[in-house]
Amino acid sequence: MALIVVCVARYIAIFTAVCGIALGQSAADHNARRETLNRYCFGCHNSNLKSGGLAIDSLDPAHVDRQSDTWERVVRRLTARSMPPTGLPRPDESGYRTLLSAIETDLDRAAAANLNPGRTDTFRRLTRAEYRNAVRDLLAIDTDVTALLPSDESSHGFDNVTVGNLSPALLERYLAAAEKLSRLALGHAGRAPPRRSMHRAYV
Ligand code: HEC
Repeated sequence: MALIVVCVARYIAIFTAVCGIALGQSAADHNARRETLNRYCFGCHNSNLKSGGLAIDSLDPAHVDRQSDTWERVVRRLTARSMPPTGLPRPDESGYRTLLSAIETDLDRAAAANLNPGRTDTFRRLTRAEYRNAVRDLLAIDTDVTALLPSDESSHGFDNVTVGNLSPALLERYLAAAEKLSRLALGHAGRAPPRRSMHRAYV
């Protein structure tokens, strides 16, 4: 009988956990979260003491998106298990995991609902030095590419600032360099492959 009760309780627990994941934002979930934070964190991180400049009690666990930066800080400390400070009562391992996954799930959901990738990197060509290193790393050929590619102009002391543009003329130089280097890599330094005119596709 006791076994059946345990089994049923376990299934209910699993069922609730699954539903909790599916529904995410349930009030019970937020209460449980607040309960844990209250027990282990609010003693120091309250609006009066504000230990470490942080009042967790004034954050709203139901809307992590409103203070996502602060919640991210909480996640970092919880992940590192560095809060509460050593020697003070802390959640057990499963308590940490439950709390973390609850906050992280909400943070992920909030981030997905409001994507902000910032400024994405544009493709750019390699500088001459980068090209040389790439060829050395990929093909094991250490060649002086100064004869193959024009030098990179520097801007504000950096030579990779002005490499965004790839003019058709420059592309031709890169293609010619690639031809030469691939011949070297294959050991056919003398034999030229048939000439192609690739540039039309790019202009
Ligand atoms: C005994 C008091 C005490 C308790 C309890 C406590 N903290 Fe802290 N917390 C501090 C102090 C003091 C600092 C500032 C020093 C430091 O950063 O280690 C701090 C710093 C932090 C920071 C860094 C703030 C920042 O600027 O990035 C976070 C996040 C944090 N605590 C989260 C928590 C969480 C979550 C709990 C509960 C699981 C908790 N703390 C429990 C005292 C406490």
